[in-house]
Amino acid sequence: MASTSCEHVPDPIEALGRRLAAEQYFADEGLLTAAHLSLTLGRPLLLEGEPGVGKTEIAKVLARVHDRELIRLQCYEGLDAAQALYEWDHPKQLLAIRTCEAENRPVGELYDESFLMERPLLRALRVPCVLLIDEIDRADSEFEAFLLEFLSDFQITIPELGTIAAAERPIVIMTSNRTRELHDALKRRCLYHWIAFPDSSREKRIIESRVPGLPEDAAKTLVAAVAGVRDLDLIKPPGIAESIEWGQAAKVLLHEGADWPSALKRSLGLLVKEQEDTETVLAHAEGLGL
Ligand SMILES: Nc1ncnc2c1ncn2[C@@H]1O[C@H](COP(=O)(O)OP(=O)(O)O)[C@@H](O)[C@H]1O
Ligand SMILES: [Mg+2]
Repeated sequence: MASTSCEHVPDPIEALGRRLAAEQYFADEGLLTAAHLSLTLGRPLLLEGEPGVGKTEIAKVLARVHDRELIRLQCYEGLDAAQALYEWDHPKQLLAIRTCEAENRPVGELYDESFLMERPLLRALRVPCVLLIDEIDRADSEFEAFLLEFLSDFQITIPELGTIAAAERPIVIMTSNRTRELHDALKRRCLYHWIAFPDSSREKRIIESRVPGLPEDAAKTLVAAVAGVRDLDLIKPPGIAESIEWGQAAKVLLHEGADWPSALKRSLGLLVKEQEDTETVLAHAEGLGL
């Protein structure tokens, strides 16, 4: 165990850490505790943090670990309740009407299951799942109010069909990149955790796991460099995904005979993706060990 091996960490939390690590997800004690409590108390887990720190990924991994379906509601500006819950298939209803008219039959029921298009939140009430409500800060605040209601009752009423309640409560993970503040009421429903960038030992474990075959020295330089790069005042500091991709690219160049650390310097385009940021990093190359 990386940062979860401290003696005071209770067993179930350590066990969760091991199960996530087996899926190549390495969490620190704070995140593991938050996830454990959210699972045990049945409260939604609200995760905030910079892009690329593993907010979305932990929902995917938890779904695998719990052998549940992952249902993802990707939020965006203008997302409304209908798009999140269900919609009636109007073209199909029209076709049914036309067909009945053409065949001179009475038009049957148009608002039953066969015309219902299930969207993520409705599906989440019907199958055991991990419900990922991703990037909630992109949705409008009216949608947040609606979501609050959904998360309080875990049931919805479809006027034509009646009330549908969750057979089994979904495990709910909500993420936000904090482009705006969320409502207090929504936060109150959730267990909150801020995911920070990983410390060097955790990032090294991630790199070792996700870039197998990268020499130890290279991994060390990379991890130290990434930490240094994140301390620079960049437009877009690199996330864990960028750090992994940087490692993969450097590994390719190394295998093709490139020197170290020039392999890292040459594959910088996978770590930072703004020209200004590249210039800043290059200006600090020596201090970063590149
Ligand atoms: N704790 C972690 N352990 C291993 N890999 C991670 C971890 N956090 C992030 N990653 C890697 O970084 C990628 C980006 O993470 P993601 O969850 O999409 O970031 P976010 O949703 O916070 O923007 C993931 O696909 C995964 O490959
Ligand atoms: Mg994400």
